[in-house]
Formats: sequence, C-alpha cells, structure tokens
Amino acid sequence: MEVIPQSSTLGAEIRGIDLSKISATELDRVNQALLDHQVIFFRDQHLSHRRYCDFAAGFGALQDYLFADGVDGYPYITEIVKTESETESFGDFWHSDSTYLERPPKITLLYARQLPARGGDTLFADTYAVCEDLSDGLRACLGELNAVNSASVVPRDENIYAEVKSKNSDKKDRQAIHPVIRTHDETGRKALFVNSIHSLAFEGMNRQESLPLLRYLFARVERPEYSFRLRWRENTLAMWDNRCTQHYALNDYHGFRRVMHRIIVEGARPR
Ligand code: SIN
Repeated sequence: MEVIPQSSTLGAEIRGIDLSKISATELDRVNQALLDHQVIFFRDQHLSHRRYCDFAAGFGALQDYLFADGVDGYPYITEIVKTESETESFGDFWHSDSTYLERPPKITLLYARQLPARGGDTLFADTYAVCEDLSDGLRACLGELNAVNSASVVPRDENIYAEVKSKNSDKKDRQAIHPVIRTHDETGRKALFVNSIHSLAFEGMNRQESLPLLRYLFARVERPEYSFRLRWRENTLAMWDNRCTQHYALNDYHGFRRVMHRIIVEGARPR
C-alpha cells in the first residue's frame, strides 16, 4: 500500500489496494492513513453495495442519515444526485457532517458512481491547522465555549436537503451542543468544531451575539492554505474524518448529472 500526500496539510491518495478484498492488516493501515492525512481516496475501486457497506463497517457502526432514505435494500447508502436539469446541489457549504447529532459521524465515505464531464470537485479544510494557527488568547477563550448545532441553520435561504430523497423533514429542529474546540478521540489533537451550516450560536448567547465571532471562524476555515481539492473520477472512493476536517461540494456543473453514494460511520460524543 502506497500513501501519496496531496498537499502540505491534508489529503492523500492510497494506491496498491483493492477495497473489495481488504485484509484486517490493510484495514488498520487505511485507518492509520486516515488519522495521518484526514482525507484519503482510492481510484478505480469496484465495489457492490454489499462490499461497500462491509468496507465502511470496518471503521465502526454505520449510521442512519436522518434526512434521506438509503438505496433499495441498503439503508445506510445515501444516494446524492444532481440531475441535468437541477441547479441546487447538496453540500455546497463548508461543513462537517450532521453536527446536530449527539454523536455526529466520525467518518464519511463517498463513492463516485457518475460524474459530470467537468466540475463537481470537493474541497476539504484541515481544522486542526485552523485551530493551531489561532492566537493563544482566542484559542483559550474558545476552549471554554460550547456551540449549539442545529439541523436547520443554513447560511443562505435554501433547502440543503433538496438533492437527497427527503424524509423526516420534521426533524429539522434537531440540535446538539458540542465544544467549539474538540479533542480528537484517537489522535488527541485539537480541532475547531463549528461550521457554517449547522453552528447556530455559542451556548448561553443568542445568534446575533455569536455571529461576528462565528463568521470570523468560518472565514478562517475557508483560507486556501488549509485546503485540498479532490478531483473525482468515476469509481473513486474517498473517506474523510469529520472530527478534524470540513468539506465543500462545488456546484459548478449545471447541465450534467452527478451521482455519489455516501455512508456515514457513527462517532463518539465530541469532547
Ligand atoms: C457531502 O457534503 O457530504 C457531499 C459532498 C460531495 O457531494 O462532494
């Protein structure tokens, strides 16, 4: 197995491995590569739905996605589709997945099934680096704060769940309170854990009071030096660590169809 870093912060391509017949030793090495590089991807993988679920389950319990049904017979595989005639897409905001849950997913897997002729890349940001580069004073102050994360906060007036088969729209008031700076439960490193889709306010403050500092933090996440851009090819399978990254799905491919299969793996309660 060869690990090829993609930027000075995060992202690595893993070569020399067939995920349809991965051994326990290889699985450990893949997990270590994910901990080391935060986002990893594999080209030219050919997995049935069953094998895809089996691979994902090697990292923990598969988690139900609150707002979409799975593909037929596979409740944990969410199909994310943007068709030729649609203009809205899913995930075109900087975010970490489902932080409105008590136990947000630690890992997301995304498998490219059909891609536009051009565009549709995904950007990733390293939130360890964002946290480490804050001043000591601000980091200490944020270390004392929690944030309220909500399923219904969106920065623009859009339905962010439009491009998945919608269910449970009544759950959009789901909320969870998490530390603004979390400690990764496997690496022990600290990462910023507020994001522009779901983080509503600091605990004990209202949204108006919270927004100036939240917006400053969101802008830090967007700095290009913290980012890695994944150019998908069909049959690329990527996985990222939601505890220490954020991502942004570029919506720059109107007129083309893009079909991705997503699985989320349950994490621990952030601390
Ligand atoms: C997501 O935000 O989970 C989807 C990312 C993508 O479609 O590239």
